[in-house]
Amino acid sequence: MITLRDQNVAELRSLLDRAREFYTAQVQNKKISVDPQLLQNQMIVQAFIESSTRTKTSFELAARRLGLNSVAFSPAQSALNKGESLKDTALTLKALGATCFVVRDTSSSTPFQIAEWTGCPVISAGHGAMEHPTQALLDALTLETVWGHGGIAGKTIVICGDIDHSRVARSQTFLFTALGAQVVWVGPKTLVPQDRRLFPKNLQVEYDFDHVLFDRTLGKKPDAVVMLRLQFERHEKTGAIPSVREYRHFWGMTADREKKLSPEVKILHPGPINRGVEIDGGVAESSRSLVELQVEHGIATRMAVMERAIQRAYPGGMRS
Ligand code: CP
Repeated sequence: MITLRDQNVAELRSLLDRAREFYTAQVQNKKISVDPQLLQNQMIVQAFIESSTRTKTSFELAARRLGLNSVAFSPAQSALNKGESLKDTALTLKALGATCFVVRDTSSSTPFQIAEWTGCPVISAGHGAMEHPTQALLDALTLETVWGHGGIAGKTIVICGDIDHSRVARSQTFLFTALGAQVVWVGPKTLVPQDRRLFPKNLQVEYDFDHVLFDRTLGKKPDAVVMLRLQFERHEKTGAIPSVREYRHFWGMTADREKKLSPEVKILHPGPINRGVEIDGGVAESSRSLVELQVEHGIATRMAVMERAIQRAYPGGMRS
């Protein structure tokens, strides 16, 4: 589970359905049956080489709820600090019994390399600016909690802001399009990828946020708007935007813009949020905001993804 590009739609749908089962069980405080033989003798290594709050915590809780043996690998306290290579680190963890890796890194190549070196299933927890598949899956689950099963089909979903640096935007674009939505990117030209050959042919790209929200540029109002974090840490030079104030003026989901939106338009943000930059604090906490619900869906989604990755890699389970 490293990319959502060119995935089988029936497979994505079945993954979301399983995540829904886990979420319903979580809300009702019930246990859901998971094949114990499948999970026996598994050891999941959670390798968060780049920092994380939401994804890391929910993967750890998801592993715990599945009853998996899970080990947190802490790069800052590891021999990586003594110059050990990533390859030797991965092979060492495999020799210690790792059967599956959850990987987050600033480098887009890390999950692919770990998969190649170890032969183990690898789940991306966000790699570089490339993809963040479990975030997109939990966002789809969130939207379908509001719109109903299969409700993404036929909807118009706007993704706004720092798309160039957003792995979330890439995974969402592949997933939402596969599930039948019209995806629209909007943001400053300097932050919208100009090479879009890998993306769905029907992806729409706009540069004027107000036109997209209010002036029927799309031919209809959007059904949901995903606000992206301005990723200051990935802006190599500060030239991408003239100033934070100007960015907020043109591309921020300010309280003024939110007030003018139709009541049924939903607002999402994958977090962490720069309050008062890409979204005002009051908007993030408003009744149309799905931010909290997105986080709530993280555990169930990651349970479904880990279970599926293990099923695929070790059909029938691991022998001791
Ligand atoms: N959305 C997201 O990936 O947040 P974290 O960086 O806190 O995991």
